[in-house]
Amino acid sequence: MEYQWYPGHMTRARRMMEENCKLVDLVIELADARIPVSSRNPDIDRLCAGKSRILILNKADLADPERTEIYRRQEEQRGVPVLPMDARKRAEVSGLRASVIRACQSKIERDRKRGILNRPLRAMIAGIPNVGKSTLINSLVGKSSAKTGNKPGVTRGKQWITLNGNGRVIQLLDTPGILWPKFEDPKVGIRLALAGAVNDDILDHEDLACRLLTYLQNRYPEIIPERYGITVEERNAAVLAEREQAADMLAAIGRRRGILKKGSEVDTVRTAALLLDDFRSGRLGRISLE
Ligand code: G4P
Repeated sequence: MEYQWYPGHMTRARRMMEENCKLVDLVIELADARIPVSSRNPDIDRLCAGKSRILILNKADLADPERTEIYRRQEEQRGVPVLPMDARKRAEVSGLRASVIRACQSKIERDRKRGILNRPLRAMIAGIPNVGKSTLINSLVGKSSAKTGNKPGVTRGKQWITLNGNGRVIQLLDTPGILWPKFEDPKVGIRLALAGAVNDDILDHEDLACRLLTYLQNRYPEIIPERYGITVEERNAAVLAEREQAADMLAAIGRRRGILKKGSEVDTVRTAALLLDDFRSGRLGRISLE
């Protein structure tokens, strides 16, 4: 993920969001189900004020289903329809069309009273980088869609994807709106990094891996022993600080997997990379960080 959020990039992204929002009836916001708070940007409320909204909790296949359900209920109580999904799966994505129509019901009703029938509903997808926006568009497009653009009546310069089905035409802006993460709280930055939502190259993998191990030890204590066949030594747990325990555990994982430097010292950098990769790809199981 190449994005570095310099102020210039943020200003450009904000301007694009503002412009594109004016063109649509509905904004489909994507968040990462593992970090549903950290992967959202509250500025979207102001940027898309007055538009219907749907929240997709994407990558739900990687998240703890109980936590996803808690967050879903909480947001629905605030009046936002929420769809947890795996955007890679066409079957899961297909329910979105009906949700778009439901979310736009008051607009459809307003149109009907004015004698306007079957005006296409226009929607855009928005979210932070790497949350799955392009994946969702690709899954939605499938075979039953067509691209339209630069025709009379279609806003110049914008490409719309026509989604048929459910008795109403839905037009989707083909370029998703990019939102920028809010890094003010350092915990947010760490969660975004763990979920793979920010550029990997600039991060200290060992530090991240230790933070993940501490979190797992507190929230999902069975996962690491099960996956790597190591046990946390009671003795260490009693005398060591959390951080040292995590470093111990990382070394134990490396030893167990034979990830060694020349000599017999554990290569903790490579072990950290293995652990993070196992987490991000779901091999540690379904884990939420919030
Ligand atoms: P973006 O447009 O918002 O930047 O995100 P994009 O669709 O490029 O998706 C980023 C990564 O997340 C991709 O993986 C994609 O396959 C994966 N992804 C998207 N939706 C889901 C989901 O619901 N569940 C899971 N598990 N993964 C999802 P990648 O490794 O970068 O690319 P690829 O090798 O999979 O193509």
